[in-house]
Amino acid sequence: MSQPFDLAGRRILVTGAAAGIGRATCQRVASMGAHVLAVDRDEAGLAALLGQLPGTGHASRMMDLRELEEIPAAMIACAEEGGRLAGVVHAAGISSVAPTRLLAPRHYRDVLAINTEAALALVRGFQNRKVCEESGGSVVLIASVMALVGSVGGTAYSMSKAALMGLARSAALEYAPRGIRINCVAPGFVKTQMYEKVAASWDAVQREQIERAHPLGLGDPDDVANSVAFLLADASRWITGSTLVCDGGYTAS
Ligand SMILES: NC(=O)c1ccc[n+]([C@@H]2O[C@H](COP(=O)([O-])OP(=O)(O)OC[C@H]3O[C@@H](n4cnc5c(N)ncnc54)[C@H](O)[C@@H]3O)[C@@H](O)[C@H]2O)c1
Repeated sequence: MSQPFDLAGRRILVTGAAAGIGRATCQRVASMGAHVLAVDRDEAGLAALLGQLPGTGHASRMMDLRELEEIPAAMIACAEEGGRLAGVVHAAGISSVAPTRLLAPRHYRDVLAINTEAALALVRGFQNRKVCEESGGSVVLIASVMALVGSVGGTAYSMSKAALMGLARSAALEYAPRGIRINCVAPGFVKTQMYEKVAASWDAVQREQIERAHPLGLGDPDDVANSVAFLLADASRWITGSTLVCDGGYTAS
């Protein structure tokens, strides 16, 4: 392995590509030579991203990932149009803050569909031999430290993210013989529009408490994108079914 951090010529599908961690991931992997297939429901955000990516061979596809049944078929169509995939990153996600007593199914349906069930659909789509490169590939699911620790009001979100870790472990065993690796990245709080939305309900004391809980400070989207790039590249070829915690020390104490 002469270039363990190279992604030259590899086609990588990234969901949530129009903003935050997904967008930073697209920029990082493109700068490592990958051809990005950017997926999001935000058409304008996708167009802006494509105009900014370094390198060539990038494409985008507008999708609402709540349309779970459409995901595997759309992946086949994308592979037929632009070539097979070497990796998938599921960075699309939504937050949820609500007391458990208010969590009627209609209140958490979208959280589970986008954060969790779309991940399963993407793995199902990727393992298709028409979609995945013959030598295999790497799937990276963006989980959260909220899968590892609790937070008041975080029941639905925590459950949606903890499920990704179980998904990754079992699917990793199933697909290891085909050279398909499946891992999670669990970020702490990262400065994105999602963070700003959640933090909007906090007072100054709560904001300071959250910041102090990260000994290395809050994360930037690039911090997570770099971990994702590692898990996509051959440098991590002996890692599967695992979760890389990328949290500035949030869960160290
Ligand atoms: N920001 C944080 O502090 C933080 C911490 C831990 C984990 N995460 C996780 O990281 C991932 C990215 O978060 P972010 O902070 O970059 O969020 P973000 O809100 O900045 O970006 C999320 C992107 O996902 C897209 N998206 C949402 N629902 C979609 C759908 N139904 N179909 C297609 N696209 C959809 C949005 O359009 C947006 O472009 C999420 O899974 C989130 O749960 C974020």
